[in-house]
Amino acid sequence: MSKLSMKDIARMSGVSIATVSRVINNKGKYSEETKKKVLKVINESGYNINSHAKSLRTNISNTIGVIVPDIINPFFSILVQKIEILLYQYDYSTIICNTNRNVEKEKKYLKTLESNNVDALIVISGDRDKGFSFDNKITNIPYICIDRKPANFSETVYISSDHYNGAINATNLLISNGSLKPIIVLKKYLSISSKTRLDGFKRALEDNGIVFKDEMIFYINELNFEENLVNKIKSGKIDSIFCVNDDIALKLISILNRSNISIPEEVQIIGFDGIDFGGLISPSLSTVKQDIEKIAQISIEKLFELINNKVVLGQTILIPTELIKRDSTL
Ligand code: RIB
Repeated sequence: MSKLSMKDIARMSGVSIATVSRVINNKGKYSEETKKKVLKVINESGYNINSHAKSLRTNISNTIGVIVPDIINPFFSILVQKIEILLYQYDYSTIICNTNRNVEKEKKYLKTLESNNVDALIVISGDRDKGFSFDNKITNIPYICIDRKPANFSETVYISSDHYNGAINATNLLISNGSLKPIIVLKKYLSISSKTRLDGFKRALEDNGIVFKDEMIFYINELNFEENLVNKIKSGKIDSIFCVNDDIALKLISILNRSNISIPEEVQIIGFDGIDFGGLISPSLSTVKQDIEKIAQISIEKLFELINNKVVLGQTILIPTELIKRDSTL
């Protein structure tokens, strides 16, 4: 990123950012004297107009829109908070839009963000595995995708944890601890991250000579889930559970504690995400930790590269995960 921003040029020239933008774009509505003053500051400071070409497409708002599917889920709230803190350090404001995984809500928020003239968008996750598509031909608003694949990779940068290898590591841990009857617990309507973790689960089974069967998949939002799960554990048909995220794992720990099933002796449990609360519950939750700090930091770097037209479009950046062993596994 260039050291000087348009905001700096505006401050040094004693005019507004919009005026600097108009001068550079030759759009008028300023005096000859203002024009001279701004151009002098630009020339003397070495401000690189070209590197900011994209941000000069219209008035700069120094505002970034963030689309998030579920602000109450600790993984998303912590990620969004880290993004907001970093953006603030760079003098950007953040507009956070919580979609509740509702497509119509998402469309409406995209329109609102466009009319607020945001400089760029960060799109986090989503419900289905359908890629995120955004028609920015007119507005030219750049966007990056976190945890949710874009429909058109060539327009953007995709940043995600390495869900596949994380899931393999989680499943391998259960099996290396002696599990012969593992299952995976998911929500219906798989997001791309859940789908990739399911693939990792299947791969680890295969690597360990366990044949995958459909009945190894349990959906937490299915009728009789709780009763079915408890019965199967009590009758020895399940001896370990890979939960596709920590939120599900914490719910299971509470269900199994109530049913007097001992974790990890009768059934091992592992989650995915690494939220803080996993370390506080009893038994503490083994998990695959996503590096939220790094996801936020790389996302912001890429976002600015994108705004300044310096990014290699079509990149996929996979962030490694970390296996955390606690008391819910043997
Ligand atoms: O708990 C939220 C989950 O959904 C996270 O694992 C995140 O990766 C998302 O896909």
